[in-house]
Amino acid sequence: MTSKSVLLDRVRPSPEQPLARPGVDRTSIGALVREFCARVRKNERLGPIFAREIAGDWEPHLEKMTDFWSSVILKTGDYHGRPVPAHVKLTDVTESDFDIWLAVFGETAAELFEPETAAIFIERAERIAASLKLAMFFRPDRTCA
Ligand code: HEM
Repeated sequence: MTSKSVLLDRVRPSPEQPLARPGVDRTSIGALVREFCARVRKNERLGPIFAREIAGDWEPHLEKMTDFWSSVILKTGDYHGRPVPAHVKLTDVTESDFDIWLAVFGETAAELFEPETAAIFIERAERIAASLKLAMFFRPDRTCA
């Protein structure tokens, strides 16, 4: 690897490679998930949706989300779920709800991680949100010919 590509890797880490940064491990990712979920549950718009969908014990959801983010960021392969059907069934969720979700996620990540690391989490969340939105809201019959 040339020194130029090493430098580029530091600036913009590849989404295919595990992120190797101090303080980024399953424990800190779990703390992010837990703080994010605590905030989202208090959110006026999203709180009632989560309360309805996860009515009982939150622990399995929190562990699943920790697996998910560990797989996304650390490439652990811990997550084996299916995000698209889990969201397509939420028929009252709108595109603007994703802006709220991303705002809460972004502020939580920015508080728990250093800015460069938070930016990586936020960029990955934005990409995944975009693909979930396509699955949920894209209607080929409504596009312009
Ligand atoms: C307005 C936006 C969103 C809402 C209201 C929402 C809501 C939910 C709810 C209620 C569940 C639990 C579903 C269930 O267990 O049956 C869930 C699961 C999940 N969400 Fe979201 N979500 C949103 C956006 C996102 C985004 C942007 C991501 C990723 C960056 C994400 C990742 C996941 C994952 C990985 C699961 C677990 C799916 C599974 O394997 O069962 N969600 N979400």
